[in-house]
Amino acid sequence: MKYSSIRGFNDILPQECALRQKIEASARSIFGIAGYREIRTPIIEETALFVKSVGEGTDIVTKEMFSFTDRGERDISLRPEGTAPIVRSYIENNMPSTGAFRKLYYIGPMFRAERPQAGRLRQFYQIGLEAIGALDPSIDAEVISVLVKLLDSSGLKNYQLKLNNLGCSEDKRKLSGYLRESLSKAASKVLCGDCKNRLDKNPLRVLDCKIESCRLAVRDTFKSAEFLCDGCKNSFEKTRLLLDGLKINYKIDPYIVRGLDYYTGTVFEVTCDLLGSQNAVAAGGRYDDLVSDMGGPKTGACGFAIGLDRIVLALGKDAGAALKLRGPDLFLASLGEEAYCKTFFLMNKLRDAGITCDMDYESRSLKSQMRYAGDAGARFVLIIGDDEIKRGEATLRDMTTKEQSGIAFDKIVEEVSSKIK
Ligand code: HAM
Repeated sequence: MKYSSIRGFNDILPQECALRQKIEASARSIFGIAGYREIRTPIIEETALFVKSVGEGTDIVTKEMFSFTDRGERDISLRPEGTAPIVRSYIENNMPSTGAFRKLYYIGPMFRAERPQAGRLRQFYQIGLEAIGALDPSIDAEVISVLVKLLDSSGLKNYQLKLNNLGCSEDKRKLSGYLRESLSKAASKVLCGDCKNRLDKNPLRVLDCKIESCRLAVRDTFKSAEFLCDGCKNSFEKTRLLLDGLKINYKIDPYIVRGLDYYTGTVFEVTCDLLGSQNAVAAGGRYDDLVSDMGGPKTGACGFAIGLDRIVLALGKDAGAALKLRGPDLFLASLGEEAYCKTFFLMNKLRDAGITCDMDYESRSLKSQMRYAGDAGARFVLIIGDDEIKRGEATLRDMTTKEQSGIAFDKIVEEVSSKIK
């Protein structure tokens, strides 16, 4: 019986892991420089957490969560996103009382039961951050600038940043009412089945429906952000002024809503032309009501998440292949039983000294061990056979210059260390 991985849950092989590690390392560095600290929350949470935060009527909650009842009869879900767990942790760990403003980042898997296709997985990886505890619109600009630095450092090209402002909860309520009223006449004729339902439960989502007839109907009734109150207009202007000052390119798109109910104020999305229909590589925005809705103090917050799988897909196969996986500094080739044991113990000592090394475990011929060392990219090979044991010194071969020299057994760690530095 052969087993295969479950659809939508992919293996990530070493070459691609190397590329991901590189992107993750630059994320850690960029986030650290901007004052963000890592947080790790569990992969499962109470289902109610996501229903309350992401929203009861959203696609994520109604169709896409991996939810189940555990042995203790609790309703739990694999996390579909990272913001709600972080807000839960922020409140549960009493962060507001120990310094209200917190800058947190996370890297890890998320789970959504969407129909798998290129760029759309059931287990996918996000790198994200959340700045919780400040209302000032400069935070929006900071969060976006950190996102842009991360995207640029990953080597992604041809991406577009689109920006919108949904307004505060009062503005969103007014806009929802307007859309419900103005679109309901057209609903039976032009709106798709999903949008007919959305009109009732979450009219804002009609704004970013991808179906052509819905798009046209929306563009007919709704032209600009005329629903913003003065406070939201001013905040948005300040964010834009700061982004302009940083020379960050963006386009205002009044139809961006994002599929999570907690957003208020600034929302943004980054798309990449190189991807097909799943072209959103990152998204985020403000969520000024979420902390208080979840039982914490009234406080502003803003964040984003990039989809690491989509970045890797957009960078293309060559990006991973171009990263040469580093071979060992040293390969130990042994010949014969006595030499094998000596080599095994020596390898342990070399590793303790920080030298990356490996050996043959299958008693292969010297020729095939040399070939293996070459394929693995080893810089040096240390040969230990009966002759070397008799002489009291091993043979060190430089794989680049092909030069060979003898090294006394008690000097090996020292000499190899100095050669690889
Ligand atoms: P989101 O827009 O749902 O936002 O997801 C962010 C990114 O995750 C997307 O732009 C996409 O690149 C990636 N992504 C989402 N679903 C999948 C999937 N099925 N397969 C592969 N990649 C996927 C959030 O999750 C918010 N928590 C972002 C945020 C943080 N907002 C404020 N703070």
